[in-house]
Amino acid sequence: MHPGVLHRRFLSDLSTSLFSFVLPLLPTSEELTIKEEVRTLIEKLIKTIEPSARLLSFGSSCNSFGLRNSDMDLVVLIDDPEAGLDSSLFVQMIGDLLERETNFDVKPLPKARIPIIKLNLAASPGLPFGIACDIGIENRLAIENTRLLLTYATIDPARVRTLVLFLKVWAKRRRINSPYRGTLSSYGITLMVLYFLVHVKQPPVLPNLQRIAPVRPITEEEMMLEGRNVYFFDDVEMLRQEWSSVNFESVGELLIDFFRYFSHDFQFNTMVLSLRAGPLTKESKGWTNDIDVGGLNEMARDRNRLCIEDPFEITYNVARTVTKDGLYTIRGEFMRATRILTQRHDRAVLALAELCR
Ligand code: GTP
Ligand code: MG
Repeated sequence: MHPGVLHRRFLSDLSTSLFSFVLPLLPTSEELTIKEEVRTLIEKLIKTIEPSARLLSFGSSCNSFGLRNSDMDLVVLIDDPEAGLDSSLFVQMIGDLLERETNFDVKPLPKARIPIIKLNLAASPGLPFGIACDIGIENRLAIENTRLLLTYATIDPARVRTLVLFLKVWAKRRRINSPYRGTLSSYGITLMVLYFLVHVKQPPVLPNLQRIAPVRPITEEEMMLEGRNVYFFDDVEMLRQEWSSVNFESVGELLIDFFRYFSHDFQFNTMVLSLRAGPLTKESKGWTNDIDVGGLNEMARDRNRLCIEDPFEITYNVARTVTKDGLYTIRGEFMRATRILTQRHDRAVLALAELCR
C-alpha cells in the first residue's frame, strides 16, 4: 500500500486509540461521589470553627482533566472579612479538629511557606487506592485558574480533554511529572498543551480567552483579584455558538505535532510560553538563567530553565521546579515520543503502549 495511505490510516487509528486509551482512566462516578461526600463532611466541620468558611474544590477534580485516583485539591475561603484568622493558626485548628472528628490520616503543615493540611483517606471499595488531599487557605487565584482551564476544555472537549488527559498519563508514566524531582507539575503540562492549541497551531484550535473582549463593560473591581487581572471570556454558551475553529486536525495529528513542536521548534533557552500573551522572550520578562552570577546556588540558577507564565500571576514561572537535568529529560521524552509516533505506521494502539511504557 502507498505510504501516504498507510500514514493516513495510522493517524485515524491513533485518534481512535487515544480516546479508548483515556476512557478507562477517567474517575468512576463512585469515586466522584465519595470525594464530594468527603468535601461536604470537611466543610461542615470547618464551619464549626468559622461559620463563614466555605470549602471549594479546585485543580483536576473540577477542571475536567481529572484522572482516576487523582489527588483532591481543596481550598478554604473565608467570606467574613471580620474573621481575621491567621492562616497558620487556622491550619493548626482545622488539623486538630479533623484529627479528633474523623479517621483520616491528618498532617497539618502550619509553618510551610503556604500553610496547608495534608489528608490521606484509607482505601475503601469505592476508592481502591484511598485518596490524597491537600487543603489550602484563601487561594482564590487557584479557583480562577481552574475555571480558566475548565472553560478551555469545554470549548472542544473531544480534542482538548483527550490531549491533556493523555499527556498527563504519558508524563506520569515517563516520570516527568514530578515537580519535587526537577520536572513538571500537571498544571504546567496542561498550560503547555493549551499554549500549543491557542498560539502554535495555525489556524488555532482554541481562541485566546484572555483576549476576547467582554460583551458588557466590566469594572476594574470585577477584573482584579489580589492585584492580578483575572479576566477571561467565560460565557460558555456564547463560545459554543460563536467560536468554531477552522482547524480540523484530528487529536492524533495534534498529538504528533505537539511532540514535534516541543522537540524541534520551541526555543527553550530563550523563550517563555505565555498562554495569556503568546511567545515572550525570557529577557523581556527578566527570566534569564543567571548562570554567570556568582554566589547563586544551583536551585536559583535553575529557576528559569523552562519558563511557563502563569495566566494570572504573570510574574510567576509555573515551571520554576524544572532543573537543568529535568529539562534535558523532558526534551529527551518529547524526542522519543516524536520518534515513536512518526516511525511506526502499524497499529497505533501498540505505539501508544510503547510511548507510555
Ligand atoms: P493532578 O493532580 O495530577 O490530576 O493535576 P491537577 O490538574 O490537579 O494539577 P496540580 O495538582 O499540578 O495543580 C492543582 C491546581 O493547583 C492547579 O489547577 C492550579 O489551580 C494550582 N496550581 C498548581 N501548581 C501551581 C503553580 O505552580 N502556580 C499556581 N498559580 N497554581 C498552581
Ligand atoms: Mg491535583
